[in-house]
Formats: sequence, C-alpha cells, structure tokens
Amino acid sequence: MSETEVEIPPEAKKIKMSSIPEAPDSEWPEAWFMAEDECEDQKKENRQDPNKPATVADLKSLGISYWKMDADSYEYPVKAVPWDPKDAVDPQLKALRDDRGYSYADIISIRPDLLPGYDDKVKSFFEEHIHDAEEIRYILDGSGYFDVRDKEDKWVRIWIKKGDLMTLPEGIYHRFTCDEDDYIKAMRLFIGQPVWTPFNRPMEDHPSRKKYVASYIEEKKED
Ligand code: LAC
Ligand code: NI
Repeated sequence: MSETEVEIPPEAKKIKMSSIPEAPDSEWPEAWFMAEDECEDQKKENRQDPNKPATVADLKSLGISYWKMDADSYEYPVKAVPWDPKDAVDPQLKALRDDRGYSYADIISIRPDLLPGYDDKVKSFFEEHIHDAEEIRYILDGSGYFDVRDKEDKWVRIWIKKGDLMTLPEGIYHRFTCDEDDYIKAMRLFIGQPVWTPFNRPMEDHPSRKKYVASYIEEKKED
C-alpha cells in the first residue's frame, strides 16, 4: 500500500473482519403486508386476503438484521433489569455482543400475570414510534408481532418467536404487540446506556428519522 493511501481505522477493520453472519433467508421469521384497514384487534394476524408475504429481501432493504439463536439450550431468568451481557454462556450470543458492542442487556417477560398494567403497556407499545438508536430484541420465549413501515409507508408485520434475534435500525417507524398467546419473553440489548424513549409519529424532523430516510428510503428512489 502506498503512503498516500488512507489507513482503515482498526475499529472499522475489526467490525468488517469479525461480523457474525446473519441467518439464511429460509430461517428468517414470517412477514406479511397487513390488511389496509385499521386493525380492530392488534393481536390478530391482520393479513390481507389473499396473504401478501413480505420477503427477506424486503426486510433487509429496510435495514433489518436477523440472527437465529439457540434459546432452548440456555436458561434465562424471567426478569433481570439489568442482565449483564457478560453473563452470556451461549457462544453465539457472546460473539454478537462483542462484535456489535452490546454492553447493556435486560430481560423482561410480557404476560398478564407477570407484568403489572399488561393491557395498558401492550397498548402503548403499539403506538407508532421511532428511537434514536437501534432496537435489538432477542426472543427467549413466546412470540409477538413487530410491525414496521416499508418504503411506501405500508405496514409489514413480522412474527417473531423464540430463538429470533432481530434488530430494527435507528429511525424506522415501528410498533410492537403481543399476539393472541399473550406472552413474550425478550432480552433487550443496547450499545451503551439504554434509552428506550419512543418518539411517536410524526417525527419527520428528528435527526434519526432524517438519517433513516436518507439511508434507506431516498437511496431507493435513486435506483
Ligand atoms: C419498544 C418496542 C415497543 O420500543 O418497539 O420496546
Ligand atoms: Ni420501539
């Protein structure tokens, strides 16, 4: 390499070299475009008729990442706020934690008998919002729906279940609900001190929203 060439910072090199490969398409969670009319019951599947699947390519083009984890072979408490990610025994979880810099974790169970104010909380998770950081969820048990807006502002429903570790990029409009089983146990991961603040839509002038639009929506229009 000549002296004039720009050096790649060691940090960037490390991330590039060690990135943990995401799951093959066949292992990603099922996703579909939601029925257009406002969903009467957020916990129902709310599919179109006939069903209109969203592909893994669709999800990736929105900035979503996904890893298939082994949630059966390791034990996690019902609740741990926080849960030290250094306590991870699962080598894949350790690797992801180190590779992506997830320095904070906690574990929560969302079920009527385990979470005081369950109904109100599930209602509030379903308010459309963004965050100013990546949202990272590892589903340890149960299941639920993450709804994300696609580039045309349509709702895509992603059915996440035990063993799914999914990340939503900073600034993507999304919402969450339990499904009809009314139970999900999840690990929430974060880089640095966690900030869970939801910024409810509309948030077009928020820097994280602008960043998302520039990276994933405007980029697409230029194609
Ligand atoms: C969250 C889900 C509700 O922000 O998106 O935790
Ligand atoms: Ni959120």
